[in-house]
Amino acid sequence: MKKSVILTGLRANNDLHLGNYLGALLPMVELQKKYAGKYQINLFVPDLHSFTTPIDHSKLYDQSLNNLKLFVASGLDLADPDTYIYRQSFVPAHSEMTVILNCFTHFGELGRMIQFKDKSSNKENVSAGLFDYPVLMAADILLYGAKYVPVGQDQTQHVELARDIGIRMNNKFGKDLLQPPEAEKDQITFAGQNNRLRVRDLSNPDKKMSKTNDSDKGVIFLTDDPDTAAKKVLGATTDSVGVINYDYDKQPGISNLLDILSALTNKTTDEICKIYVGQKQYKDLKEATSEAIKKFLTEFQTKLNEVDEKAVLGKLSASEEVMNKVANATLLKVQKAVGLRQA
Ligand code: ADP
Ligand code: TRP
Repeated sequence: MKKSVILTGLRANNDLHLGNYLGALLPMVELQKKYAGKYQINLFVPDLHSFTTPIDHSKLYDQSLNNLKLFVASGLDLADPDTYIYRQSFVPAHSEMTVILNCFTHFGELGRMIQFKDKSSNKENVSAGLFDYPVLMAADILLYGAKYVPVGQDQTQHVELARDIGIRMNNKFGKDLLQPPEAEKDQITFAGQNNRLRVRDLSNPDKKMSKTNDSDKGVIFLTDDPDTAAKKVLGATTDSVGVINYDYDKQPGISNLLDILSALTNKTTDEICKIYVGQKQYKDLKEATSEAIKKFLTEFQTKLNEVDEKAVLGKLSASEEVMNKVANATLLKVQKAVGLRQA
């Protein structure tokens, strides 16, 4: 029997940071380990999504490849025969499917997307591509009949929309046309995301760590010099409570450090809290977290330098060949359903 598909994409715009590593790269690698042999895994770079907002186009091509290397440095096993890595624009069916799905997506639906509202507010030139972003994402998902689409919280609304569009197409053209992804609740259970870690900005712990934050001071980039990164942790904003508690409402900075330390040392938050909660000064926690970050970055960057580029490129072209076949088959079904090809 054909294996069900787990699919996700990670954009290649800017340098990725610790939040992307702990919230996206690592969970995907863990899913691969957990479900090897049972599921097909589609891991792709949504390169066409990259310039829905302005970017430096001279860097995009290399960044797309680098993005895949980051997955390998995070532990992705390229030898797994059920894992496919590919670039969206190398499978042209994504674009054509988007044009078709556009006509079965409502203007109002896209206007309600939180990410669109966030990214377009107070901007003078908002591209049509930004507005249409979720439809391209729906094409990414529906072309492969992906059952599970592990994404961060900010993307769940888009996955739900992909499901709605899939169901709508099936209602109109026949129930077996597309395989919509599972509903959000099942997605979260599947990906073990009930306790989704959200790394906060070190200097502004009320906000999540993000590449689009105003300053780099509180963001640990995966390419940061390990010593510089360690200093960012030592300078992290905390509070004046004077005793360590794991409480995001009252002590978000401290709680963030506890979470980061536990994630990087492979200990549970409980284990870390047992050591630090109740301590009357923050120095030990800051120093331990800063050391953990330094060690993590040093090891990660060594692994990244050692990634076998030839192996990545080989896997990429083999995967892209297979994915073109799969995507074209779904596209043809849809073209027939809408009358573009003879049924
Ligand atoms: P950014 O906010 O830096 O632009 P993206 O929105 O591109 O990050 O997110 C890419 C992936 O990384 C998503 O799956 C998202 O949930 C995850 N991610 C981003 N920031 C964090 C964070 N601070 N903590 C945990 N996961 C994060
Ligand atoms: N929009 C996602 C993000 O910004 C990336 C993405 C594009 C994606 N297409 C996708 C994720 C399809 C999952 C499935 O993080």
